Amino acid sequence: MADLQNLVILTGAGISAESGIATFRGPGGLWEGHRVEDVCTPEALARDPALVHRFYDLRRAALDMVEPNAAHHALARLDAEWPGDLLIVTQNVDDLHERAGATRLLHMHGELRSALCAACGIRERWTEALPPESECPNCGMLALRPDIVFFGEMPYQMERIEAALAEADLFVSIGTSGAVYPAAGFVQTARHYGAATLEMNLDPSGGSHWFEESRMGPASALVPAWVGELLGGG
Ligand code: APR
Repeated sequence: MADLQNLVILTGAGISAESGIATFRGPGGLWEGHRVEDVCTPEALARDPALVHRFYDLRRAALDMVEPNAAHHALARLDAEWPGDLLIVTQNVDDLHERAGATRLLHMHGELRSALCAACGIRERWTEALPPESECPNCGMLALRPDIVFFGEMPYQMERIEAALAEADLFVSIGTSGAVYPAAGFVQTARHYGAATLEMNLDPSGGSHWFEESRMGPASALVPAWVGELLGGG
């Protein structure tokens, strides 16, 4: 590990599962009782904005009931102490990484505690309920929507992610099923540029065969152990 400098870490719903946030592809394939396509597509938002807004209002409010777990804290420690480049790319829309203290972090699928103006594109921190037709504080249009990247929409900061993957010595994937692109393809990009690859997940994921090393188990155990290997101590 002496020659490791640049790390890219991808996280998914599995890292927040032990904090009490449901994963997307749990038993039955429903996300909090809904089919993903009924709440997580531009078509769903156009068809039934009240349903989609209310769905994300509930998810946003639920953030008050949860806390970061040992895996989030371990990554925050790594973020604080790692001397090389590090980028945590999360698919999660919760704020548990930053509440644990991580700063070298980006939310590629948006954030629950943010609103996006469909008219002017501004992103505004938002902690309360967001009824349809809320007024944008920037342009005044009644066009605020949850700042969530729906299926069919472009994730945030793809150029920055691609650049980090191109420079990475090690790509690590934690708690993601590898079912949703482009994130599911990051392991292949990282390998293409010569990075070592490590997966930590409860079960083998859809992309497990792409990783040189796979560790199976709960993130709250695996991630602190791995960070301990990198930094020493506990
Ligand atoms: N520790 C580690 N991994 C876990 C844990 C745990 N405690 N609990 C569950 N997992 C694993 C599951 O085995 C599964 O492989 O986490 C993974 C979660 O997969 P998904 O529910 O598909 O979540 P994710 O991969 O983040 O979904 C990607 O899909 O719906 C979209 O935009 C949404 O960002 C989301 C994307």
